[in-house]
Amino acid sequence: MNDTALTVHQIARPHGFPTAEHFTFIESTIPDPAAGSALVENLYWSVDPYHREMMDDVPGGFALGAPLEGRTIGRVIASRTPRLAEGDIVFHRQGWRTHMVVTPEEIRRLPLFDGVPPTAYLSVLGGTGLTAYVALTRIARLQEGEDLFVSAAAGGVGTATGRFARLLGAGLLVGSAGSAAKADHLTREVGYDAVFDYHDGSAADLLGKVAPDGIDVFVDNVGGEQLAAAVGALREFGRIVRIGTISQYNTPDVSLPRFDHADIVEKSLRMEGFLVGNYREVQEELHEFAVPHLQSGRLALDETVVDGFDHIVDAFLGMLRGRNTGKTIVRDQTQAPYVS
Ligand SMILES: NC(=O)c1ccc[n+]([C@@H]2O[C@H](COP(=O)([O-])OP(=O)(O)OC[C@H]3O[C@@H](n4cnc5c(N)ncnc54)[C@H](OP(=O)(O)O)[C@@H]3O)[C@@H](O)[C@H]2O)c1
Repeated sequence: MNDTALTVHQIARPHGFPTAEHFTFIESTIPDPAAGSALVENLYWSVDPYHREMMDDVPGGFALGAPLEGRTIGRVIASRTPRLAEGDIVFHRQGWRTHMVVTPEEIRRLPLFDGVPPTAYLSVLGGTGLTAYVALTRIARLQEGEDLFVSAAAGGVGTATGRFARLLGAGLLVGSAGSAAKADHLTREVGYDAVFDYHDGSAADLLGKVAPDGIDVFVDNVGGEQLAAAVGALREFGRIVRIGTISQYNTPDVSLPRFDHADIVEKSLRMEGFLVGNYREVQEELHEFAVPHLQSGRLALDETVVDGFDHIVDAFLGMLRGRNTGKTIVRDQTQAPYVS
């Protein structure tokens, strides 16, 4: 065990893309757990686009000069509560730091399914996978054979959406991503039929080429021009699932998308957004759906794993710029790659 704890603080508010200068690493001695609590050494951290939204001066956003929040998995290394034992693997939300004193109420025990690597609890079985699963089953209410377009298809939510959609019997599955290499991965490995690089022209033209007969469902992680294009491409009774708006998080001055509002009426379209935090009750159903597929190999993990807590800020900034394929996870360097 290291002698020193490290905690990341945000120290300035960005306008546009954040940089390493907006963060600092604070060293401290490792805290002692008080009676009724336990000390957790964090082992895996999730960095997410919503952290970028929290960097702004918004209600519930990050306070400057204070520890940040984020999903993390750690191991109990000292305990002063009978409800947590040394060696327990726990999930909690006090991420962006190497150590944390927690009470039993602040943690969730992970079910730890056989043959499932620990990173999966932050990717396809965690909030990212739950977002994809809720999008398809609760918001789109995807029917077998329906045709689907997914934006930011190569990210954490986008890859999980693609893999789940295939398992749920989607028809045509098309996506957009930021590079030809990502498009290639999605069509070769994830099950997408066709993927365009959104840098290659107008979204309406590119979507028209991969889905010439239109789509039934748009799962939107991006917003902007791709959202406008999808409104045009949707068929009667189509659904738009608004998950995120990453095209706007780092470009606050960009103009908002324009689309034909009459399309929503004439084609009886439904557009619905959601926050995954309001669907915690679906978590167990996600496990029942996804774990057998993970164990049988029908569902694979798409993850970009960055080793070393000291790289957490780089991992976060890289994800915002699209350096990841699949879910971005930071791993403590003591954790050897998982072999099932
Ligand atoms: N509603 C909810 O509860 C909920 C929960 C989780 C996530 N989300 C949202 O879902 C979206 C995806 O999140 P994630 O965790 O899976 O992140 P992610 O997709 O793994 O990472 C972000 C990706 O966004 C893409 N991107 C960045 N700037 C872009 C731009 N201007 N236009 C198009 N794509 C851009 C990058 O890939 P490229 O190389 O393809 O550009 C990057 O890899 C985000 O909008 C996030 O806020 C919402």
